[in-house]
Amino acid sequence: MEFNSLTLQKEDKIAILKINRPKALNALNTEVLLELDKAIEELKSDQDVNVIILSGEGKAFVAGADILEMKEKTANEARDFAKVGIELFRKIEMIEKPVIAAVNGFALGGGCELSMACDMRIASEKAKFGQPEVGLGITPGFAGTQRLPRLVGSAKAKELIFTGDVIDAKEAERIGLVNKVVNPEELMDETMKLAKKISSKAQLAVRYSKMAINRGIETDVETGMEIEKDLFALCFATEDQTEGMTAFSEKRKPDFKNK
Ligand code: HXC
Repeated sequence: MEFNSLTLQKEDKIAILKINRPKALNALNTEVLLELDKAIEELKSDQDVNVIILSGEGKAFVAGADILEMKEKTANEARDFAKVGIELFRKIEMIEKPVIAAVNGFALGGGCELSMACDMRIASEKAKFGQPEVGLGITPGFAGTQRLPRLVGSAKAKELIFTGDVIDAKEAERIGLVNKVVNPEELMDETMKLAKKISSKAQLAVRYSKMAINRGIETDVETGMEIEKDLFALCFATEDQTEGMTAFSEKRKPDFKNK
């Protein structure tokens, strides 16, 4: 598949999707959003992909939604623009396969929001996070007001959103926004290592776990436990459960088939 503002590579069942609009610090315009949507749809059904890594080309991960495109919008047009991003980021969050953000640089506004729609964030020491929207006269619009408090708590989220402060990777790790901070040169290797570790496990079990966590977090704990129980039971209808437990009893490594 050909893209104008994205690059897509596949290696060992890992897809590396990079936003490639470095001259505008990978700002999310409509074209980037629509191309990302296409790529995610393709990767969703790609049997040869277990884990997706999302990153940015150049010095930014994503420096936000495209301010120049948003500048002239009417309220209705702004709502439509927000809707495209919100639906895309929800698709990224709910895609069965794990998605890891390799945050190489600025992750501001829509960029921070995009990273939060991913399951995990590995950040380069050079990465910077923030929701600077109030400095532009707007609120976050790609669900930052929803995901940031769920990740770091409402008090910290309010501080970041009300002040527009930009924080470095270490601070982002300290408040629980980032899983791990690594050397810039090691960012892709470290992220690949994590992706490969996940990819070596039983993928249906990984996907059901993601579903249980995502659905459970959005409901009450009793319903969440019901969801987990059903997905746990569903694993017992998979060949990988038989293989995983047989391999354990035969003291050998499992050979999972993702079935
Ligand atoms: C459009 C952008 C952009 C953006 C950077 N650029 N961010 N264009 N939208 N969000 C462009 C600049 O205009 C410039 O283009 C080029 O990228 C390089 O940027 P510089 O500012 O020259 O780089 P630098 O001095 O290194 O500063 C980096 C920066 C700064 C601190 C990240 O670019 C910046 O503050 N960007 C905006 C960050 C932001 O406010 N993001 C939130 C947007 S609102 P030229 O042509 O001059 O070289 C948002 C809302 C989401 O995300 C919800 C929507 C529904």
